Amino acid sequence: MQTLQASFRYNPVHSHIFIEKQFYKNNEIVSLITEKSKQTVVIVDSYIDQRVLDLIVNTLKPSLVVPVDCKEENKSRESKATLEDILLANHIHKDCTIICIGGGMLCDLVGFLASTYLRGVDLVLVPTTLLCMTDAAIGGKTAVNIRNIKNVIGTFYPARLVIVDPAFLLTLPETELQSGIAEVIKYGLIMDQGLFQLIKDSYHLFQNKDIPFFEDIIQRSITSKISVTERDLLDCGIRQTLNFGHTIGHGLEAFFNFKITHGQAIAIGMCIESYISFEKGFLSRHEVTILYDTFLKYEFPLHLASQIDIETLFGIMVSDKKSTSDTIRIICLESIGSIVNRSGNYLEPITKAETVNGINDLLSFIKGAHGKPSNISINT
Ligand SMILES: NC(=O)c1ccc[n+]([C@@H]2O[C@H](COP(=O)([O-])OP(=O)(O)OC[C@H]3O[C@@H](n4cnc5c(N)ncnc54)[C@H](O)[C@@H]3O)[C@@H](O)[C@H]2O)c1
Repeated sequence: MQTLQASFRYNPVHSHIFIEKQFYKNNEIVSLITEKSKQTVVIVDSYIDQRVLDLIVNTLKPSLVVPVDCKEENKSRESKATLEDILLANHIHKDCTIICIGGGMLCDLVGFLASTYLRGVDLVLVPTTLLCMTDAAIGGKTAVNIRNIKNVIGTFYPARLVIVDPAFLLTLPETELQSGIAEVIKYGLIMDQGLFQLIKDSYHLFQNKDIPFFEDIIQRSITSKISVTERDLLDCGIRQTLNFGHTIGHGLEAFFNFKITHGQAIAIGMCIESYISFEKGFLSRHEVTILYDTFLKYEFPLHLASQIDIETLFGIMVSDKKSTSDTIRIICLESIGSIVNRSGNYLEPITKAETVNGINDLLSFIKGAHGKPSNISINT
């Protein structure tokens, strides 16, 4: 069993994080989950294998089990209100523990619920996707969406315990696994060169769902995320570096009407933002190529960059940042494993022309690798 700990400024809760296969068989973990409360409530993604849920329920003996249909559109104020009504109807008290078993959608929703129910109750997260194990469950951000506006209402509320059970990955669909590995690659690129190297060389382990490999990359990713969020829980400074690839990636998610996964969008975003880092003189050409190659190896659909309309994309990114200027700001890499930091200022302004150069370079690289055409131009 691996254990980690995170302490956040402005928040009295210390998060303890355990990485343990079939956590419900470990008595120490089970008593840590239940020690705080008389009542436990399990809120669970309804996908979960009934046999696994039965084992968990037999061990934790919760007062209430609530299954949730975990579509992104259900990450809403309405779902939160429905859950609140269920808790109230079942007389769930202030001294309860809410245990959330699911991916980032459910952990965001239930984290928000736990932070406001009776002004805040004890929270345990059991993430079941790679993205949630390495990102969404760590660092305390909770949220719901309003219509198409993502994460617009929420709180900072770190869970008391995060129990990462890599066995959940065995049932995770490949597209979701790929979406998660994009965030892991991001940690490697911004702060852990060794992690990037490991992922670059281990595609066969990823494909074979090798549990020790996943334990290793999950532990390293969580360590990276903790080191950033402990210093900046409220997202005012260094936490922005976690947005590498996300400025363009978020724009692409909206541009493609959320038909591509978050991981696919940020993978393309990271490629383009890396090329821009090279063009600005920070990153070497050789490293940009290694990075493109790695995303191709993990079968990210980089060719979708050929469909980008730069005016539409910039329109989305400018309105997303509520900016009046045509300039967007991104995190740049100075090498694999390290970002550009100008005395605590991490954001570099970029133009449409630089973004188009990044798209074109990526497409010519793919053309070289796979013979696919490149046809991007810009109206100036
Ligand atoms: N709070 C944060 O810091 C943070 C960070 C990143 C993302 N997020 C949020 O996380 C959400 C995305 O989360 P996600 O990528 O974990 O996906 P998800 O929770 O939307 O789950 C994706 C799909 O996989 C299914 N699923 C979950 N675990 C499974 C398993 N073990 N086996 C089989 N199927 C399983 C779900 O039912 C769902 O259909 C978004 O809402 C995003 O905004 C939050």
